Amino acid sequence: LIAFFQPKLLQGRRLLITAGPTFEPIDPVRGLTNLSSGKMGFAMARAAQEAGAQVTLVAGPVHLDTPAGVRRIDVRTAQQMFDAVLPLAAQHDVFVATAAVADWRPAGTSDAKIKKQADRAVPVLELVENPDILAAVARLPDAPYCVGFAAESHDLARHAREKLQRKNVPLVVGNLGPATFGRDDNALLLVDAQGEREVPCASKRALAQELVREIAGRLAARG
Ligand code: CTP
Ligand code: CA
Repeated sequence: LIAFFQPKLLQGRRLLITAGPTFEPIDPVRGLTNLSSGKMGFAMARAAQEAGAQVTLVAGPVHLDTPAGVRRIDVRTAQQMFDAVLPLAAQHDVFVATAAVADWRPAGTSDAKIKKQADRAVPVLELVENPDILAAVARLPDAPYCVGFAAESHDLARHAREKLQRKNVPLVVGNLGPATFGRDDNALLLVDAQGEREVPCASKRALAQELVREIAGRLAARG
């Protein structure tokens, strides 16, 4: 009953979340992508909505249902994700970047399917770098509170801290992969300017609820 009368943790806050992988086409039937189920981002969207937030979810290609009450925008490539996120960022209080954005895309996309050559010459892919969505949002003059994610195969704390500084964001959430990718549970390491805190292995739903509490506390402390 007491909980009923307590204002929800993120009441009145607007959250923008990226989730899933991006897909960078090579030709109509092939492309480059990252390993990402989108589960953590969708769990964040659901937990934030349940905590009273207005949630916009920009999703790469994933096979997940939209959480109730969440506004979803579907994109395919990193550039489309960037183009969807940047104009919306300033209208939100928090930006949570869970997406596994492809770092590079093919320099050119073929309109026709590339065929194997009779002489067996193998095509060579030239790549160009995609824009860094999180770093670009963090650079905005009216930037929302930015939370980055770092999925690493080793040296998690060091890499998460390096991303905190390089992207100039106040909080980075680290996890060790690839064993965790696509699973329903995970363990996290929260890294900020003050230090580190481990969140022990739990379901992505429970982790998302813990991150909602963490973010709500940081917003309240900021005033
Ligand atoms: N990110 C992003 N746009 C990109 C690349 C990454 O918004 N083009 C975000 C991710 O969503 C994540 C954070 O930045 O929140 C860290 O992503 P990560 O891939 O770990 O960092 P990179 O800077 O790309 O470094 P690297 O892949 O070399 O580890
Ligand atoms: Ca990357």
